[in-house]
Amino acid sequence: ETKDAMNCIQKLEALPEDISQLLITTGAAGDLLGKNVFVVGGFVRDLLLEKKNLDIDLVIEGDGILFAEKLNKTLGGKLLSHSEFGTATIILDNDTTLDIVSARREYYEYPAALPKVEKSSLWNDLFRRDFTINCMAIQINSNGFGKLIDYFGGLEDVQNRKIRVLHNMSFIEDPTRIFRAIRFASRLNFEIDRETNNFIIEAIKGNMLSKVTDDRIREEFIHIIEDENISMSISLMNSLNIFKAMHSSLMITDDTIHKLSNIDSSAKEFSRFSNGSIDKRELIITQLLHNIPINKLSEVICKFINYRIIMTNVEMALQHKENVYNILMKEDVDKLTLHTILSQHSLENLIFYYNDCHNSYIKHYIMYYMLNLKNVKISITGKDLLDLNIKPGPIYKRILDETLKAKVLGKIYDKTDEIRYAVELYEKIKGEDDV
Ligand code: CTP
Repeated sequence: ETKDAMNCIQKLEALPEDISQLLITTGAAGDLLGKNVFVVGGFVRDLLLEKKNLDIDLVIEGDGILFAEKLNKTLGGKLLSHSEFGTATIILDNDTTLDIVSARREYYEYPAALPKVEKSSLWNDLFRRDFTINCMAIQINSNGFGKLIDYFGGLEDVQNRKIRVLHNMSFIEDPTRIFRAIRFASRLNFEIDRETNNFIIEAIKGNMLSKVTDDRIREEFIHIIEDENISMSISLMNSLNIFKAMHSSLMITDDTIHKLSNIDSSAKEFSRFSNGSIDKRELIITQLLHNIPINKLSEVICKFINYRIIMTNVEMALQHKENVYNILMKEDVDKLTLHTILSQHSLENLIFYYNDCHNSYIKHYIMYYMLNLKNVKISITGKDLLDLNIKPGPIYKRILDETLKAKVLGKIYDKTDEIRYAVELYEKIKGEDDV
């Protein structure tokens, strides 16, 4: 234990100055109250892995809210207390967040006929958690600063790069941990321990995922696809039959997994066509669902996400795919056709088509559209037509559409051109109607 304590002091001192100072200050606040304070969970895991983590989870063996108030007198951050849970959060200016929970001494009832044993409050707090690598603590009181508390073999699992649960009921108690196991394995490039993997398989066979609400599943899935190394996560989900459990018509191919492994570079490559950022979630979900029968599509999409815009765009991409490919597969597609069919799609849809299709004409047209036509817009609006004393009606849409077409074809360039064109068009339409 002394050796471990030494280790962590060095690691704590190697943190950015403001973070290591913050831990010392926090420990000192515990000293003042005469209570033990520990930094726990993901922060400890990432410290051992030398990964940056700005979320500091603290366990205090005493009143967490009182402690948070005392501590924040020194820190001057934004304090949020949740008295019903005995927890508090302090948010500092540099985005660092301190989450404080109170641990209480409890009697632990072992199964079988073992006697009730009093466990330390810290042990209790850590035993409720998911994986050994997330269940370590480091004391930060001045006396004992840096001491690693590792009841469950977390350090060894960090060193051997293993995701391991504490006990065989972990996934039964909380099936969302199945998704967490996958996410951490992928993010850290760890292996799910064999026994833990078997517990997952059992839980899935036992239909535990059906006990989780759709909302929670979507939330965990979004966490996964917003995290690192998605192709590994998707591959793990697939080999654990999770997609099948989510919807019977989902089939993930090796090609899909391969394409997902290129998603980051693809998003980067196409980012020059976007003025905001590219929504990787949309790209991923479209790719995952690309071979779902169209009539099942809306029913499957909502298993993964419920953001309206993404749902609509994914549906657009997949419903129109055949049609778009059929039109663009030819040699002589004109600018107007290209604009008409591609302008209905999000940039993410276009990137999906570009990566999905194998035909060089299609690729060429999509690239041409993105480079030359995607940003063609007209500046005039209905308001300008009103200023020109044109009587409002269906004619507005016709004039604006025709003006846009002229601009796409390169017949007009700026707003003055547009107004002139709109006036001429109006005169012409009026003339036709008079005849
Ligand atoms: N936890 C758990 N079971 C869950 C969710 C969380 O046991 N279903 C525990 C984990 O031990 C974790 C802690 O609660 O360390 C905090 O959860 P969270 O903030 O989600 O995890 P982090 O480990 O901090 O992960 P991240 O780096 O993604 O923030």
